[in-house]
Amino acid sequence: MTCSAKAALCGAVTALGVWMGLAAVAPPAVAQSFPSRPVTLVVPFAAGGPTDTLARILAERAAAEIHGTVVIENVAGASGSIAGARVARATPDGTTITIGHWGTHVLNGAIYKLSYDVMADFEPVALIASGPQLIVGRKALKADTLKELIAWLKDNPNGATAGTAGPGSGAHVAGVFFKSKTGTEFQFVPYRGAGPAMIDLVAGQIDMIFDQATNSLPQIRNGAIKAFAVTSPTRLASAPDIPTVDEAGVPGLYIAYWHGIWAPKNTPKDIVDKLNAAIVAALADPAVRARFAELGQEIPPLDRQSSAALGAFQKAETEKWWPIVKAADIKPE
Ligand code: MLT
Repeated sequence: MTCSAKAALCGAVTALGVWMGLAAVAPPAVAQSFPSRPVTLVVPFAAGGPTDTLARILAERAAAEIHGTVVIENVAGASGSIAGARVARATPDGTTITIGHWGTHVLNGAIYKLSYDVMADFEPVALIASGPQLIVGRKALKADTLKELIAWLKDNPNGATAGTAGPGSGAHVAGVFFKSKTGTEFQFVPYRGAGPAMIDLVAGQIDMIFDQATNSLPQIRNGAIKAFAVTSPTRLASAPDIPTVDEAGVPGLYIAYWHGIWAPKNTPKDIVDKLNAAIVAALADPAVRARFAELGQEIPPLDRQSSAALGAFQKAETEKWWPIVKAADIKPE
């Protein structure tokens, strides 16, 4: 089943179907019997948000590549760290895995005092896709460009609000960088995910979000919100009218929001390989590729879809971002 952006109503747990196919190469003994029970794919945020959307697209197609049933379970709260703890402590047999991203598997380690280690307690399975954020505002906001937004914020110091997916989430971190680059002030409003934040933006309850493109683009296309800029050096192919932050007046505010899949540490390698093969096959599917592209997501080349490549990338991102986030003194509030 597929949940739309309004799918907060979809319920927290959804069976996605039966994984019926076979991996291309005969798997070793442990993987042959895997999965002997349903696989739970934990989404660390509310249903209907960007991570949930990508998880559902991917899982539906991966269903054709592996035996069994996959169930999506939304475990929201504390910027994804409640889900992180749950999966880090799960039995490492491949039947509990998680989708995560730059926030859950990099930023959270620098910002929260966690009961688990964002790198050491997981086996990386596969990098899925990367996409920028969009700086978006409620439809009636009295600003149509990023420069007008900055002017409006300066006219309304502390009166404006920006929704986030929780303290320390990517939306919060991007907002902190934006404040320091522009000399503006506004209040952060934390939600259990970008899905519920978007519902309030559309309703005009908050002023703006530093939001993943996956979440915003459908609402921009139907005219429910307005876009000011994309946080990347180039425009999105699927939304070429939205200027880059460089063009719009906040040069260098680049945020690439990547997603991956992880299993608990010590999950047997042949099971990790089987999960990786299913995801690689899903990412090669033209329908998945088209859907991801429409949502502003770039799928990595094949040589970056291995579990080792995700581990190396997560390490590089940690080395890059932890000093920046710690220097910015971003706290879970
Ligand atoms: C979500 O699905 O709610 C998001 O991935 C949250 C975020 O922006 O970190």
